[in-house]
Amino acid sequence: MRKWIVPSLLTACCLFAVLLMYNSLRKDETPSVPHEPAPSATASGEAAPGVNTEAATAIYKSNCLSCHGDQLQGAMGPALTKVGSMMSEDDIRKQISNGGGGMPAFKGTLTDEQINTVVSWLAAKK
Ligand code: HEC
Repeated sequence: MRKWIVPSLLTACCLFAVLLMYNSLRKDETPSVPHEPAPSATASGEAAPGVNTEAATAIYKSNCLSCHGDQLQGAMGPALTKVGSMMSEDDIRKQISNGGGGMPAFKGTLTDEQINTVVSWLAAKK
């Protein structure tokens, strides 16, 4: 009878020790995986100089995504993935400010600065 107690106690201790080690390892790991947003330049490909990708994508997400898609792939509105090679900055600015062809005008909704931010971001999509 008694000879089983020692090995089973040992086994229990081992399991406990392993559990403790596993737990403390996991605790050590958590702080080293911060939830930092990825740098904007790498998150959306090459960022052209002077383009505030972070601000532009934020404006895009709340104003344009519903019609132009979450990847600029287009939906009710046309795709904008290569809009910079099809339209000049001025054309893009006019389209956003005045709308047209089913797109609402944004000059009352967005500030000039916000429009400019989105325009230079889109103009770099070639
Ligand atoms: C209600 C839907 C809708 C929303 C919201 C919208 N668009 Fe559009 N957008 C369109 C449609 C439809 C067209 C096509 C207009 C045309 O063919 O004349 C268009 C055209 C464009 C064009 C010209 C692209 C091309 O190939 O002709 C640009 C640039 C553009 N939108 C940018 C934006 C931006 C930036 C926003 C957010 C600030 C936005 N759009 C919000 C529907 C929308």
